[in-house]
Amino acid sequence: MDLGLRGRTALVGGASGGLGRASAERLAAEGCRLALWSRGGQTLQQAAAEIRQAHSVEVTTIAGDAADASTAAFVATEAQKALGHVDIVVLNAGGPPTAEATRTDPAEWRRSFQLLAITPIELTTLLLPGMRSRGWGRIVSILSSGVRQPIPELAYSNACRSALVAWLKTIAPEVIADGVTVNGALPGRLDTSRVAWLDQARAERTGTTAEEIRAGFERAIPAGRYGDPDELGAYVAWLSSDLARYQTGTFVAIDGGSLRALP
Ligand SMILES: NC(=O)c1ccc[n+]([C@@H]2O[C@H](COP(=O)([O-])OP(=O)(O)OC[C@H]3O[C@@H](n4cnc5c(N)ncnc54)[C@H](OP(=O)(O)O)[C@@H]3O)[C@@H](O)[C@H]2O)c1
Repeated sequence: MDLGLRGRTALVGGASGGLGRASAERLAAEGCRLALWSRGGQTLQQAAAEIRQAHSVEVTTIAGDAADASTAAFVATEAQKALGHVDIVVLNAGGPPTAEATRTDPAEWRRSFQLLAITPIELTTLLLPGMRSRGWGRIVSILSSGVRQPIPELAYSNACRSALVAWLKTIAPEVIADGVTVNGALPGRLDTSRVAWLDQARAERTGTTAEEIRAGFERAIPAGRYGDPDELGAYVAWLSSDLARYQTGTFVAIDGGSLRALP
């Protein structure tokens, strides 16, 4: 299926690995020109080189830490410089640390809120006027199933991402008439280095192995396995497409059936 994205431009966060990289691959396969953003370094450069080589599209890189207050403005400027303008932004970066919900830390709340809420909100705010004036734009956020069903050791993630969802849901009806859609994907447990790290952390806390932790999760997931990052990347590409132009303000779980509640 041709998603009609050839020649569109996309800024993809957290694109050196995991879900961001998988989303970038799908958008590149559809012919988008890309700006890949993460904290930078060799992994980001390698991702850019591999995507360029595999899909014959222009790929540039932007290095910036989403937990820093100055990064959103820097990334917006650099992306527009490199791409001319940004049609699609995939809001994504790394996850916060784990914590017992009754023993959180004010400094970590501030850092996590910057990482997961303020930076994506500021970045979107900066890119929206151009999208609205051109009559076409896509805001796609990679969130977490924790915004539907809080995850015990991820209090920072549950709360800060919920703030972002609330803001995205607020702006969606304000910009759809200008051709801009605002949606999100809620991953459950997709096979990335972040999830491997979470499994390892839980294993250390509970005195077992990461393999046993993973096996336990897989028994509980109706699909019987962790998801492949591409299974989320494909959905990000769909949300970015022209075919999804009437879909806005939605936040859909990609979780192998784990969330049992009605939407
Ligand atoms: N995988 C899942 O099933 C799942 C489930 C629920 C929620 N999530 C959330 O979805 C997001 C992506 O998950 P993932 O599994 O793909 O994670 P991942 O494998 O750890 O990849 C994270 C990506 O973000 C970049 N990054 C990390 N910290 C950053 C920062 N401070 N500023 C800018 N970029 C940063 C990393 O690259 P650099 O190291 O180059 O910066 C990397 O490209 C995370 O927020 C995660 O918590 C994932």
